[in-house]
Amino acid sequence: MRPTDTYLNNRLNGRIQAGNLRSLSVLPAGIDFCSNDYLGWATSPPWPASAHMPMGSTGSRLISGNHPIAQQTEEIIAAFHQSEAALLFNSGYDANLGLFSALGHRDVVFVYDELCHASIIDGIRLGICRNKYAFRHNNVPHLQELLQKHCAQGLQVFVAIETIYSMDGDIAPIAPIARVCEQYGAALIADEAHATGIWGTQGEGLVVSLGLQQQVFARIHTFGKALGGHGAAIVGSNVLRSFLVNFARSLVYSTALPPHSIAWAQQAYRHMASPQFSNTALHQVIDHFCRQMQQAAIPGWQSSPTPIQIVVTPGNDNTRRAAARLRAAGLQVHPILHPTVPLGAERLRICLHAHNTPAQIDLLINTLQNAITSS
Ligand SMILES: Cc1ncc(COP(=O)(O)O)c(C=O)c1O
Repeated sequence: MRPTDTYLNNRLNGRIQAGNLRSLSVLPAGIDFCSNDYLGWATSPPWPASAHMPMGSTGSRLISGNHPIAQQTEEIIAAFHQSEAALLFNSGYDANLGLFSALGHRDVVFVYDELCHASIIDGIRLGICRNKYAFRHNNVPHLQELLQKHCAQGLQVFVAIETIYSMDGDIAPIAPIARVCEQYGAALIADEAHATGIWGTQGEGLVVSLGLQQQVFARIHTFGKALGGHGAAIVGSNVLRSFLVNFARSLVYSTALPPHSIAWAQQAYRHMASPQFSNTALHQVIDHFCRQMQQAAIPGWQSSPTPIQIVVTPGNDNTRRAAARLRAAGLQVHPILHPTVPLGAERLRICLHAHNTPAQIDLLINTLQNAITSS
């Protein structure tokens, strides 16, 4: 064995011993309760096929990759989310990495919800800012305590939240958070990855639905979840856009999103803005699921008004076993294991979709009942 392989294997053995080795597998056929394709658009977009667009953007936006469709789509996205400007990124991960690392200077303080997505944490880590503090999940008094302690003269404070949390499916108390940020002069950043297309009558997300767009400094909208495509946009002020074009390294030093992908996002946004758009079917599925789960009294279930539903099944082995039982019944439910979530908080993460039928939900809940009690 080559010495480098020995080194890599030693690291992998640590994971094997901890019971959390990751591997790639192709999902066997089954009923989709695990993808982020909440509206079914990845396979059945509700808009007609668009004209052919090139697959390659040929370079960074700053060199040869600034295809006219990019700027046109950014204008559509900015108007839709009621903001001055938008800037496309290759993915939500790239958007957060670029945004937080660019903002993370010496004279900056980051205060972020402890359950923020890895892309936010990684972006904060990448910057040169040393002042970073996590507040307890959705805990406004704790956020306020940290702001009181760390908002010092001459420092710019940024507060980061998700509007719908990706691993818990719960909603941030955005209005009280925005009020506290205003009180301390902190700029609020809201990741709307799981709210885009899902929340609001046009799928505009939570910030606009609550009328808080003026109180939020930046929002991240991703195209790979409800929009069924790929890529992301950061929306905010013109000066923020210009700042990112200069300092967001994931934008400056990467080949731009293919025009083909941008065309998809543009079609999705045009559809969301049209009277034909509806996410009512998805919310009906969520309501049906919640009513049935309440009746079945499934232990560990954390009710949520969003498509992300959690059943906590403590322990990696326990969670894997329960997921395997569901898979054996033809149900695609993903186990979320430690270290993705804290020890003891391992869970089955159920993603609901507009196209899940009542019969599929009933099968899921019946199987869940047996899988959990016997796991
Ligand atoms: C809250 C949140 N932000 C950002 C991302 C990254 O988005 P993308 O998949 O487009 O890279 C995700 C994806 O899991 C997410 O859940």
